[in-house]
Amino acid sequence: MPQKYVLITGTSSGIGAATVKLLADSGYTVFAGVRNEKALQQWQQSNHPQIIPLRLDVTQTKAIEEACQEVAKTVGENGLYALINNAGNCIGVPTEEFEEEAAKHLMETHFWGMAKLCKACIPLLRKYAQASGSSARIINIGSTGSISSFPFIQFYNAAKFAILGFTESIRFELAPQNIHCSAILPGAVKTEIWNRAEESIKASLQQLSTEGAHLYRDNITTALQLSNKLENKGVSAQAAALIYKKVLQSRKPKLKYFIGADSKLMHWMVRYLPDSLRHSIINTQLKFKKTL
Ligand SMILES: NC(=O)c1ccc[n+]([C@@H]2O[C@H](COP(=O)([O-])OP(=O)(O)OC[C@H]3O[C@@H](n4cnc5c(N)ncnc54)[C@H](OP(=O)(O)O)[C@@H]3O)[C@@H](O)[C@H]2O)c1
Repeated sequence: MPQKYVLITGTSSGIGAATVKLLADSGYTVFAGVRNEKALQQWQQSNHPQIIPLRLDVTQTKAIEEACQEVAKTVGENGLYALINNAGNCIGVPTEEFEEEAAKHLMETHFWGMAKLCKACIPLLRKYAQASGSSARIINIGSTGSISSFPFIQFYNAAKFAILGFTESIRFELAPQNIHCSAILPGAVKTEIWNRAEESIKASLQQLSTEGAHLYRDNITTALQLSNKLENKGVSAQAAALIYKKVLQSRKPKLKYFIGADSKLMHWMVRYLPDSLRHSIINTQLKFKKTL
């Protein structure tokens, strides 16, 4: 069998870092995409023979092109076994006060970065499928937020819904080329993203206008408290990494993989409950106050 090269984005911390370690220890050769120098050096210093650190900011088209050229050179005629689009961030803000630049940057990170990487890597994945006579993989990270939304993280939800739709579409398109496409949909996973999101939401609280503070402050605070509770019940980054590995090893990968009891429960609710009942369950947890 040819060597199995995997490219994964957003590997400085959390699920990405855990996945790099797990896959490299399992015999895959992993291109570990990171956007900052410190993280690049950390992977270099790990001296793991199966880890190839790669500078890759997914919001930069040129960085994507250069990274994929480097990948193409290394994998040669063997091709690329799998692309894992994992990079992500989260911002929270009342909709009427959002900053366009921050919202666009989030969409660039989650959605456009993922789409451009798929475009650049499809020829390399096809090469693997042809050379090996077996299937290659694309795995995109969605979230429970790909099927059900949470207040004040509207751009995160929009990006995650879009990722699931995109993945389902290319699953049809690329199956004839023996490239399987899946989305993994974690519930809460204990990683830095929660602290980063909380910081962003607290910063937006500081910047609220007087009217904005009256309308949103209490409900944002309540939403933060609920999100802290959800995070505390989250699974580990290693548990999420195991699902990535499962998709890579599955003979017939599914479209969707739910991670954690919360994610499975939400899937069940979306599937079997009317929206009104699901919303009233979420509203009971949120306990939002009327602000008019
Ligand atoms: N944790 C959860 O509960 C949860 C649940 C569902 C889905 N997810 C998804 O899981 C993925 C990984 O997040 P995580 O939970 O592991 O959080 P994390 O520890 O914050 O990891 C996010 C990673 O994405 C990287 N990243 C952010 N912007 C980037 C960019 N422009 N280019 C390249 N890399 C970038 C970060 O790098 P820097 O260090 O350079 O910022 C970091 O390595 C995200 O897509 C997230 O939406 C997480």
